[in-house]
Amino acid sequence: MSSLPKRNVEQAPSLFGNLSVMPTRDIEAIIRCQDNLAFMRPLPAESMQLIVTSPPYNIGKSYELRSPLEEYVKSQAQVISECVRLLAPGGSLCWQVGNHVDKGEVFPLDIVLYPLFREHGLQLRNRIIWHFEHGLHCSKRLSGRHETVLWFTKSDNYTFHLDPIRVPSKYPGKKHFKGPKIGQLSCNPSGKNPGDVWIFPNVKSNHVEKTIHPCQFPVELVERLVLALSDPGSAVLDPYMGVGSSVIAAIKHGRVGYGCDVDQKYVDTAWDRIFQFRAGVLRTRPMDRPVYDPSKPHGGQR
Ligand SMILES: C[S@@+](CC[C@H](N)C(=O)[O-])C[C@H]1O[C@@H](n2cnc3c(N)ncnc32)[C@H](O)[C@@H]1O
Repeated sequence: MSSLPKRNVEQAPSLFGNLSVMPTRDIEAIIRCQDNLAFMRPLPAESMQLIVTSPPYNIGKSYELRSPLEEYVKSQAQVISECVRLLAPGGSLCWQVGNHVDKGEVFPLDIVLYPLFREHGLQLRNRIIWHFEHGLHCSKRLSGRHETVLWFTKSDNYTFHLDPIRVPSKYPGKKHFKGPKIGQLSCNPSGKNPGDVWIFPNVKSNHVEKTIHPCQFPVELVERLVLALSDPGSAVLDPYMGVGSSVIAAIKHGRVGYGCDVDQKYVDTAWDRIFQFRAGVLRTRPMDRPVYDPSKPHGGQR
């Protein structure tokens, strides 16, 4: 790590303006060790084109204090309200969640939290199912192998770029066999819409992106959201940043990444990953790599 560039704290203007205490930042990444409400309140209204995050699920992970569900929902309501203030009129808010579990009873957090977004007039565009294959093996219910991303917009006039996130068509050479288009390709040669079921490996111990954080986003998942829902040069915020996976996805595609986390060791890891990215040595799983399949030669990897 000693050969990597030093933390490059620039004097470039940021959305924080002339605060007496300047945030730790550089030109593309504005990240701080701070509570998210304190981080977000000085930022100007409607300044974020995309807000993408995964909050604690209130299940007693090392980075959270477990509280009654009603209290958890109240604290989520405050953070969501601040996010809505920051969201640009054509912007998107993506809340990635799994289940809260209490004495074996499951409370899907997307169902629990959905009314909070609706209260602000946000419109749900997709409830994306993120499917992965690794996790705890349950003995009294089916093992959980999916979580969800609720994608909301603030208005009907929102940014959505399909072309950068197209995936290979199942039958790329297929042609119309009758009608006026007979003989022409029946699918888009650039690939198809990825749909609302996304299969990305979760970041477990043998994943190339694994850090000290117990629950990281795979960068490829956020990349798909960044490419589809924001424009180059726009601002992308993660108010529960962890080790900065969303910020990396943002700067990888020419956006400006904003983020905060209350745990200094995660923020330090986020900076390290950002510097590794800049030095060209950060390993992230490519968006177009098929999921490892042990039944195929070389796991079916390209
Ligand atoms: C599910 S993790 C997010 C991980 C992140 N997606 C990543 O890829 O690393 C939730 C994070 O929220 C942080 N957190 C909890 N309460 C917070 C608060 N009030 N303000 C900012 N961060 C908070 C925790 O420290 C934890 O790292």
